[in-house]
Amino acid sequence: SGFPAVVKKTLLKLGVPSAILEILFRWIDIHEECPKIPEAKGAISAIRNEAFFIPLYELYLTYGGIFRLNFGPKSFLIVSDPSISKHILRDNSKAYSKGILAEILEFVMGKGLIPADGEIWRVRRRAIVPALHRKYVAAMINLFGQATDRLCKKLDAAASDGEDVEMESLFSRLTLDIIGKAVFNYDFDSLTNDTGIVEAVYTVLREAEDRSVALIPFWEIPIWKDISPQQKKVSAALKLINNILDDLIAICKRMVDEEELQFHEEYMNEQDPSILHFLLASGDDVSSKQLRDDLMTMLIAGHETSAAVLTWTFYLLSKEPTVVSKIQEEVDAVLGDRFPTIEDMKKLKYATRVINESLRLYPQPPVLIRRSLEDDVLGKYPIKSTSKMESVRIGVGSTDLLNPRGEDIFISVWNLHRSPMLWDDADEFKPERWPLDGPNPNETNQNFRYLPFGGGPRKCLGDMFASYETVVALAMLVRRFNFQMALGAPPVEMTTGATIHTTKGLKMTVTRRVKPPVVPILETPTMNMEASASLS
Ligand code: HEM
Repeated sequence: SGFPAVVKKTLLKLGVPSAILEILFRWIDIHEECPKIPEAKGAISAIRNEAFFIPLYELYLTYGGIFRLNFGPKSFLIVSDPSISKHILRDNSKAYSKGILAEILEFVMGKGLIPADGEIWRVRRRAIVPALHRKYVAAMINLFGQATDRLCKKLDAAASDGEDVEMESLFSRLTLDIIGKAVFNYDFDSLTNDTGIVEAVYTVLREAEDRSVALIPFWEIPIWKDISPQQKKVSAALKLINNILDDLIAICKRMVDEEELQFHEEYMNEQDPSILHFLLASGDDVSSKQLRDDLMTMLIAGHETSAAVLTWTFYLLSKEPTVVSKIQEEVDAVLGDRFPTIEDMKKLKYATRVINESLRLYPQPPVLIRRSLEDDVLGKYPIKSTSKMESVRIGVGSTDLLNPRGEDIFISVWNLHRSPMLWDDADEFKPERWPLDGPNPNETNQNFRYLPFGGGPRKCLGDMFASYETVVALAMLVRRFNFQMALGAPPVEMTTGATIHTTKGLKMTVTRRVKPPVVPILETPTMNMEASASLS
């Protein structure tokens, strides 16, 4: 229709072959009718050697909420706009898959819940979500307390010896110990021991991170796979973890067979409250490979993410002693010297706001990855599920026409969370921006400018778990200790794998907190209570 159609008709009458007109006018259609997604040109070299989401932030300020980045023959759409993010993640989520992410993680997660798409994902999500019911989460809070207490003992020793501690690796071990018990009732005990299995977990994690930032998929090179020492090490580590998972599944199956407990909605075995136990008791009809993939997925999803949140929270706090004092005041009032319970969670309001704000400044992971499966419109821009149109437009050779694939999309949560267009004092750490009596901030009440746990059907299923885990650890640690950057500590800089790491660790000096003296009122009332409890 319109002017181009008139021209086309005229040319046809003049005897121009219709095949030529088709090609010509498809080109015109693309250029005239579709608004063009801005292209970030010549900026690609900036992506190397730095946490890659940093240059993407600069490009966002120049090119806006959606732009294209060409990377050799590859091209990515970078999305930093709340409403486009909402569209991709929630409103039209069925038109997107996990794309590159699934390809990269296949070696460790197989078809586990994070990479899986379509029917497999739907079935597994429906089976696993009920396992994280309220009673389970309440039991987990107890576990968070026990595990953090072990860390406190370690820090206590360091405080006595006047030794500095590297908190990033300690947080990684804390959350590994927690997630092992929580998901499959295995005590890695990594805060006290360096066993082969702990090393195997880290080997696999580092490999997943190396793969996600690699420019070429080195692991697909046929001979490399077999001769590279690193790849051999990874295979051995995977084999070790898989064997342990198989054993744990077998042990748990036996427990379930022997127990008398009836399965119900809030089913939980007190000795073993793990997600694995729930799944087996529910009669979850699943292959052992799929079950293992899901366990491995949750192990990884729930480990480095929480560790990174704690690391960056303590880094932020090292610069804001007044915020620390406010948390301490709250914790003293709510907990005193007790272990936290689920009832305390809604009372630790300020500590929760600190975690909310830490997740805004350091989202884990900093980008979400999708690939388009269908044609769609993002903002005012139509996109094609096959790159046919794109290869015509950007002039890539015809090979892409034979190998159609969707648009690869990075949703930059980092950009959303730090956009000067969306936030006042976007780069400042201000827990006070979240009112204490207001709702807990999430993607819905923040209209997709805040996505700490993603959004839509693929939203994190461990969000509650993770929030409580980090609040408990934060509360118990600042109750006992003061943390400062160690004298001569290396500067804290960012690097990225799946989550944001420091380049050289978070070296801190830990001192015992001097609390105001407690005036003794009664002699050891707890002992009397215990005595009477055991008598009755
Ligand atoms: C998915 C963040 C802890 C299990 C996600 C996603 C985010 C996220 C952003 C969405 C990914 C996407 O859309 O591509 C976090 C953060 C955590 C955390 C920041 C800690 C502070 C946990 C824990 C568990 C867990 C403790 C397990 C108990 C999962 C699973 C998915 C997921 C299974 C995939 C859900 C699906 O695709 O249906 N997480 N997570 N996460 N998370 Fe978490």
